[in-house]
Amino acid sequence: MKNARKHEVGRFLSEALSFLGILSLLFASLFILADPASAAETQGGTAVVGPGVTAAIAPGDISLPAPGKTGTLSVEAAMAQRRSVRELADGAVSLNQVSQLLWAAQGITDEKGLRRTAPSAGAKYPIEVFIVAGNVDGLAAGIYRYRPQTHSLALVKKGDARAALCDEALSQEWVRSAPLDIIITAVYERTRVKYGERAERYVHIEVGAVAENVYLETESLGLATTFVGAFTDEGVKKVLGLGDEAPLGIMPIGVGK
Ligand SMILES: Cc1cc2nc3c(=O)[nH]c(=O)nc-3n(C[C@H](O)[C@H](O)[C@H](O)COP(=O)(O)O)c2cc1C
Repeated sequence: MKNARKHEVGRFLSEALSFLGILSLLFASLFILADPASAAETQGGTAVVGPGVTAAIAPGDISLPAPGKTGTLSVEAAMAQRRSVRELADGAVSLNQVSQLLWAAQGITDEKGLRRTAPSAGAKYPIEVFIVAGNVDGLAAGIYRYRPQTHSLALVKKGDARAALCDEALSQEWVRSAPLDIIITAVYERTRVKYGERAERYVHIEVGAVAENVYLETESLGLATTFVGAFTDEGVKKVLGLGDEAPLGIMPIGVGK
């Protein structure tokens, strides 16, 4: 009798344990599915820009993880330690880091979805940012356009284009060895409609502001970069498949050696 009871208690315990095991497996798979760092093509939908303001995400675009607003490095410390770094270690950058860098370059920062992290003459926002990704965790190698309104990426072309970009940048090795290159481009016409001849000056000033944001964000993330201005305009346009956008700077991003 006693033995039968013992046996029953034992069976109950082992069933309870296997039930708990299944439950924890279920929870683990839920966490994996919800991992914000893995890029997934969206089926469309909306992104929240500010309270009550949403923007439509284009079908097929890749939604980026939300950028953080509380880094651990002060602006002063980031400026004090900023350097152009050309020697990059092997190793990938994460999708969270890419998200943070693109937000620093051109992220939307006001509730109406109009203003951005970098200033723009007459709020014309002529800057368009592209990335050439080769070694980003959770993102297939390819050329992507950053969409500030939805904080997402639109695929321009599949495949690793870093070597081709490097060839057009006077073979500066850091363009090829970086896991990721950020390319700052501009559509002059957007500024020209308001400012005429002065547009060129304004657009170039804006590129400087964007580049400095990226420099400081790389410091904050413990990454490294260099502003590369030496490249053939037509060559870079061809590699990226640009239309109205003029390439004005390349910023290879990686882990400094
Ligand atoms: C407009 C501009 C163009 C540049 N072009 C290149 C370039 O093509 N290749 C490169 O290695 N560094 C380039 N640099 C980085 C400078 O060489 C670097 O900023 C300078 O040596 C000062 O060093 P620091 O940035 O570490 O303070 C460029 C910087 C600027 C502002």
